[in-house]
Amino acid sequence: MKNPFILSPYTDKSLFCDRESELKTLFDYVTNEANVTLISPRRMGKTGLIYRLFDEISTQKLDFETFYVDIYATQSIDEFIKVFSETIIQSFQKKTSLLKKAMKVFSGVKPVLSFDELTGNPQISLSYNDNEEKMKTLRSIFDFLENHDKKVIVAFDEFQQVREYRGVNMEAILRTHIQKLTNVRFIFCGSKKHLMFDIFANARNPFYASTSYLYLDKIDNGKYFDFIEHLFSEHGKTIESDAIEFVLKFTKRHTFYTQSLCHFIFQNASKKVSLQFAKEEAARLIALNENIYLQYRSLLTPQQWNYLKAIAKEGVVVQPTASSFLRKYEIGTPANSQRILTSLIAKDLILDTTTKEHTEYSVSDVFLSRWLEA
Ligand SMILES: Nc1ncnc2c1ncn2[C@@H]1O[C@H](COP(=O)(O)OP(=O)(O)O)[C@@H](O)[C@H]1O
Ligand SMILES: [Mg+2]
Repeated sequence: MKNPFILSPYTDKSLFCDRESELKTLFDYVTNEANVTLISPRRMGKTGLIYRLFDEISTQKLDFETFYVDIYATQSIDEFIKVFSETIIQSFQKKTSLLKKAMKVFSGVKPVLSFDELTGNPQISLSYNDNEEKMKTLRSIFDFLENHDKKVIVAFDEFQQVREYRGVNMEAILRTHIQKLTNVRFIFCGSKKHLMFDIFANARNPFYASTSYLYLDKIDNGKYFDFIEHLFSEHGKTIESDAIEFVLKFTKRHTFYTQSLCHFIFQNASKKVSLQFAKEEAARLIALNENIYLQYRSLLTPQQWNYLKAIAKEGVVVQPTASSFLRKYEIGTPANSQRILTSLIAKDLILDTTTKEHTEYSVSDVFLSRWLEA
């Protein structure tokens, strides 16, 4: 039986929960000529939402060409250009005339086109004689998109990665190109909130105030409830209401963790899922990850580990320097607490969420949090 709880970013609309209002916002922005910054904690559903948007555009047969460019693994401007051009070439693979046109973009730099043996995807290798040639190649890619006969939407996923490129001000280079384009809209997507804000909301940086924002929050409880109930029954199994409530609570409605637990439960359930069964499966799933959690521990100081555990046991902490919290977990001085907290946020192990009222802290990995609190 096919498991309807997907763990890949996106397959199709029927297995995708809600996000209707976010989809509409994103859609309205990009079709009304605005560039967008899309931010959320890791694994909340940004990539999925981009795919959902592109799927919607293609289903509605709207006159847009869409490109999803994941720059997570890139370390330099050279790799950026490579990934960007491969994405374009890949999507034109079946349209020979367009592919030919796209390849012309690289005619100055003698591209070598090959095909990945496993996936069959085109790969491109480019070599430049000098920096000028490299910059020219990048400009040609943007020119090509600008002159395309359809409107173009480009999504750069994990955009904050440009901060890792050594020896270039990638933001300045990209901003210079992008601000001239009228045919191309961009979605800049990222999980590292502090870096993303620095890129797009810091007046000293090139992209300052150049985009609209969309912050992706948790999926609504009622909508996720109905979705889970529906997918079980659609696929030949049932789940009791209290079991669904338990899953949503246990995973704190953080999309990836909710999907993972549902996937696991669905996979192991015979016909009907009770609260008891859901609880047992949750415990089993956490136990399966134990080795990874022990690895984390070896990478942290005892103080950091103790701190992470304290946050996990509390669930959410709003006042990390309050004396009651410091005493309860033997953390030491407020300055100590602040220092450890900052280091754990930088390591992405603690998530800081700012609401209208306050900033709250929790362990980023929900399953790790559940394991630590036990
Ligand atoms: N609306 C949704 N409905 C169902 N599953 C979703 C939804 N959004 C995301 N997911 C799932 O959650 C996981 C994390 O989503 P992803 O888009 O990769 O997050 P992000 O890009 O924010 O890190 C993926 O397995 C994806 O399939
Ligand atoms: Mg993603």
